[in-house]
Amino acid sequence: MLSKCPHSGHRVSGCVLAFSFLFINFADGSSGKSSQSQDEMHAIHTNQLDLREIVFIIQSQSNSFHVGQAERRRAHLLEQAQSLTKKPPVVLLLHRLSDNEGDWSILPLLPEFSRSFGKNSSWLVFLEEETNVKMPAFVQVLAKFDKNKEWFVGKPLFDKESTIIHHYAFAENPSIFKYPDFAAAWALSMPLVVRLANKVRDEPLKSDFTIDLKHEIALYIWDGGKGPHLTAAPELCTEPEDSLRAQHCATTLSKEPTQCGEPVKKDDIFVAVKTCRKFHNERVPVIKRTWEKDAVLLEYYSDHADPSIPTINLGVPNTERGHCGKTFAILQRFLSSHVPNTKWLLVVDDDTLISLPRLQALLSCYNPSEPVSLGERYGYGLSQGGYSYITGGGGMVFSREAVVRLLDSGCKCYSNDAPDDMVLGMCLNALGLPVTHSPLFHQARPEDYPADLLAHQVPISFHKHWNINPVAVFNKWLRDNSSEKSSHELDRTAKTEL
Ligand SMILES: *[C@@H]1O[C@H](CO)[C@@H](O)[C@H](O)[C@H]1NC(C)=O
Ligand SMILES: *[C@@H]1O[C@H](CO)[C@@H](O)[C@H](O)[C@H]1NC(C)=O
Repeated sequence: MLSKCPHSGHRVSGCVLAFSFLFINFADGSSGKSSQSQDEMHAIHTNQLDLREIVFIIQSQSNSFHVGQAERRRAHLLEQAQSLTKKPPVVLLLHRLSDNEGDWSILPLLPEFSRSFGKNSSWLVFLEEETNVKMPAFVQVLAKFDKNKEWFVGKPLFDKESTIIHHYAFAENPSIFKYPDFAAAWALSMPLVVRLANKVRDEPLKSDFTIDLKHEIALYIWDGGKGPHLTAAPELCTEPEDSLRAQHCATTLSKEPTQCGEPVKKDDIFVAVKTCRKFHNERVPVIKRTWEKDAVLLEYYSDHADPSIPTINLGVPNTERGHCGKTFAILQRFLSSHVPNTKWLLVVDDDTLISLPRLQALLSCYNPSEPVSLGERYGYGLSQGGYSYITGGGGMVFSREAVVRLLDSGCKCYSNDAPDDMVLGMCLNALGLPVTHSPLFHQARPEDYPADLLAHQVPISFHKHWNINPVAVFNKWLRDNSSEKSSHELDRTAKTEL
């Protein structure tokens, strides 16, 4: 089989089969006997792992742009599979698997996966729409594991310090707990899927909030030490697909599709900043020093009109907790004749740090005549028929159509101090409108996320000034150097970096 391998051709399946056979033997601790016939080798290999024993699940979303991305990914997987085997593997789009929008949280679907594939498949493999799988190499990675045992395989992330987005888990030594970077793909062996499916059926998920799904899934699987921890596969990578460093990789990232055409124009985005009197001198100046200049249509809404900023008093008393009253007043104003008619509304907190140029580029991928709600998606009570919402601190983006439908539905705050983002999520859920997740929006500060995750992102937002210098954080993570930096400033940056 090896002798038939062309050195430079594309039809490499023969080589691949032989290589994966060798892998399997090493993993089993037995030696690859060279006296075995070619047919025997092939037979052993196919007993070990056939491509059709893998079920690929693309973590897709129902927004039209993302459906297109996921379908291209699916076609690419099937094309590769076709050149390796006659019958293709199952490739599923997550958002099509059920009518329950909250099933992006995956665990509720495990009983169904177990029923459908528990007897005829060996692995569930999850990937994101931008995860590029090199099929032959990927099959080799999985073939190294004994498929009759429980495995949870991926590219590990860990927290250097305990973080609010993980409820300060493992506060004494957070780095011991590993969870998968979804962008690199991650896999569950079928024995683990079957056991987890029973667990999901028997005991409902404990946590009300779904904040960082990859961490929560890893915790659920690990189960305080009763289940497996994440096993690292070094071939699962998040390098760009054309990178030299990606040569050993079985998965890579396609280049960020953050731009689909011309960036939307500045005057297509109306920016609403929620503030209140006590932060006029503390937080508003940070916005003015960082990203305010990138907006042409921006208003500050407060409980006190201050002409020096200026702020607008919407007549909604300030509340300590949620800002539902204020946010609904903003939605009404956005549709009113008091402000120019724009396609997009961005609602942020006064301590949100955001790159508007990157948002303009990202929005070129979305159709403003659809009811789009975009940002960092969280979930509430998803396993008990709850809802998803865009978490407010990272910035909530709405198309005009989404705002029109929200207000037309008559959906309201149950109190002025209800959490605005969650109420909006409830309203969208009642309307049957999905929220669209972008991992580029962040509800917390850069230090709250693993460096390995941020390394493959071009972030759009971060949130909170707590224990950081927000201007420095903006300059490091969100400022683009191209247009405005003078060479003098660049010199200074170079020096401080030394
Ligand atoms: C396994 O069964 C499911 C239906 O339950 C089917 O869709 C899938 O194609 C089967 N897979 C294989 C490899 O036969
Ligand atoms: C500006 O940023 C780009 C990438 O964002 C980088 O390639 C370039 O070297 C930077 N220029 C300077 C002068 O730092």
